[in-house]
Amino acid sequence: MAEKEGVILSGMRPTGKLHLGHLVGALDNWVSLQDNYKCYFLVADLHVLTTGFEDSAEIPGFTFEMVLDWLAVGLDPERSTFLVQSQVKQHSELNLIFSMITPMPWVERNPTIKEMISDLGLTGKIHFGLMGYPILQAADILLYRADLVPVGEDQVAHVEMTREIARRFNFLYNPVFPEPKAKLSPTPRLPGTDGKKMSKSLGNCIYISDENDTVGAKVHKMITDPQKVRKGDPGRPEVCSVYAYHEIFNQAQTDKIAAGCRSGELGCVPCKGMLASIIGTRLEPLRQRRRSYADNPEKVHEILSEGSRIAAKKAAETMDMVYEAMGMKF
Ligand code: TRP
Repeated sequence: MAEKEGVILSGMRPTGKLHLGHLVGALDNWVSLQDNYKCYFLVADLHVLTTGFEDSAEIPGFTFEMVLDWLAVGLDPERSTFLVQSQVKQHSELNLIFSMITPMPWVERNPTIKEMISDLGLTGKIHFGLMGYPILQAADILLYRADLVPVGEDQVAHVEMTREIARRFNFLYNPVFPEPKAKLSPTPRLPGTDGKKMSKSLGNCIYISDENDTVGAKVHKMITDPQKVRKGDPGRPEVCSVYAYHEIFNQAQTDKIAAGCRSGELGCVPCKGMLASIIGTRLEPLRQRRRSYADNPEKVHEILSEGSRIAAKKAAETMDMVYEAMGMKF
């Protein structure tokens, strides 16, 4: 195998099945990075507890569904390491060390945490662990001495803080950590079927695992230009969510579709039909791969335990370097 260029770590909180926003906003990018980087893909189950601690027993089931989607889209456990945060104990350990050296104001000013608090209506109900969210994420990344972190825009603040923590550790003790960079996905955010942000809680998702008839039904309910009421009316592709999807899933035909929509020749019903069929064709091989793993749950568990075992080796090496740098080695 050719020498790989560097180490990548990225992760997701397991909250169930993944949708098309995850696919085009993150997973497609992760899949292609596997060729050139040593990749670690993290199931951030401990991070779920920062807000979802009451529903902890759901996490293993959600992990299973999420990892099925990872495998479905082509993340490859032969080339990349899949790991479960709670199974690699060093995540918690490095989190503790970092929490000692991170000034409280760094945590308090983190915009992504502020946004989570207001989005989830948590003002006045914040737990200690939620404030530590970015510190745990820094531990996730730095434990593997990653160089690059492929994430969405909303995670950039966390990666910035990871760099600050790395710099602070290296300055206080000895240089152990690289300063990792965020690597933004080339694809812009995909809206939900109602035009808002695609999110499970809003019920506006198309899932990677959705069958063709479900995809069709969801696409047919999508909001188009409210001024285009019937076929023949001219439409405005720039305000239409169906068109936003064509731009991502059907690039070859966007010019034709935009022109047909503007002139009124192309009605919304056939336009949606085309989109549903393109998405269905795109998802078919993914669903097949997903099914083959879903029928073999022991295989999925083996991938996660083997990956976590490999990850723990590298993690133990890093923790050794950490205690060495701190002059705390016995
Ligand atoms: N915070 C990330 C999210 O909500 C998940 C995550 C946890 C993560 N640890 C990470 C992402 C480390 C990248 C690197 O999507």
